[in-house]
Amino acid sequence: MKTTIAILPGDGIGNEVTREAVKALAAIAQKFGHEFNLPEGLIGGAALDAEGNPFPDSTAALCKDSSAVLLGAVGGPTWDKVPTENRPERGLLQLRAALNVFANLRPVAPHPILAGASPIRQDLLEGVDMMVVRELTGGIYFGKKERSADSATDVCTYTRTEIERVLRIAGKLATGRRGKVTSVDKSNVLETSRLWREVTTELMPKEFPNIEVEHLLVDAAAMHLLSRPADFDVIVTENMFGDILTDEASMLAGSMGMLPSASLNEGTIGLYEPIHGSAPDIAHQDKANPCATILSAAMLLRHSLKLEEEAIAIENAITQVLMDGLRTGDIAKENEAVIGTTAMGDAIAAAI
Ligand code: IPM
Ligand code: MG
Repeated sequence: MKTTIAILPGDGIGNEVTREAVKALAAIAQKFGHEFNLPEGLIGGAALDAEGNPFPDSTAALCKDSSAVLLGAVGGPTWDKVPTENRPERGLLQLRAALNVFANLRPVAPHPILAGASPIRQDLLEGVDMMVVRELTGGIYFGKKERSADSATDVCTYTRTEIERVLRIAGKLATGRRGKVTSVDKSNVLETSRLWREVTTELMPKEFPNIEVEHLLVDAAAMHLLSRPADFDVIVTENMFGDILTDEASMLAGSMGMLPSASLNEGTIGLYEPIHGSAPDIAHQDKANPCATILSAAMLLRHSLKLEEEAIAIENAITQVLMDGLRTGDIAKENEAVIGTTAMGDAIAAAI
């Protein structure tokens, strides 16, 4: 039977990096004898330009009929003046909501071969291996918005159910890892954070008695991520804190170009995307690092299709090409030769 994976390239470098991920998926299909059907859909600015809507019904239908969705990136300066409800980013938020993918998994583990790529001191990076679980379909991103000429409002709401379900994902992940969950909130100021901490304090000891739970305020967490990054195992936090902290955490790995993500619900359909954006400054120049998107395809094979061996084959291929010294600009040290997006993607597909 053919497995359908919807491909949504989006905007900017999204097009280039998903093209390389498709090559990797084709190589996996060939090697392991699978048949993948990989239809493309429009999202973000590209969809707005073509259909006047950043998340067209046709794209919603395509995604819902698929086993998983692989997305590049959305947004760019072309659409800066577009009103909020039609911005490319709205398309992505609507997609996340439509698929109900409330748990966004962002693994951060510096690749040993890329030692020196991070601006953080090398001795602090020893043993860094964390999984950030970002709540993805609630909070201030989805609250009521109001705007007049001189005043603006963004409402932040969380329900007990929304907090519980993402905590369960974090607890399960920690059980298969080093057994620690750090919950990040701002409970000294925010009501939603007070509820978050209350629910965490109740649920975790009851449902995950063997998991060590630590609570951190988000400002302190931002500091601890740099001063003691190796202490973290699973971090669980609300939508906006997770957005900010994962950009920070990506610097531990050296480049956003290496970091994949998986957005999951309680079923098997998931949304997979690199954590980086559309990078308009380097778009269409064959400069983007496709690794984050190709690693997202590996997460897709693992989480939505339950193809663990195939996921590992992609991860090993990336390790292989890095060991062979292949580097895109974002991960190259001074004096190291740089190759383009296409050459990197071709090398990874060949290594598979
Ligand atoms: C991310 C991005 C998105 C977000 C934007 C593009 C809406 O920054 O996935 O981290 O804020 O969630
Ligand atoms: Mg972000």
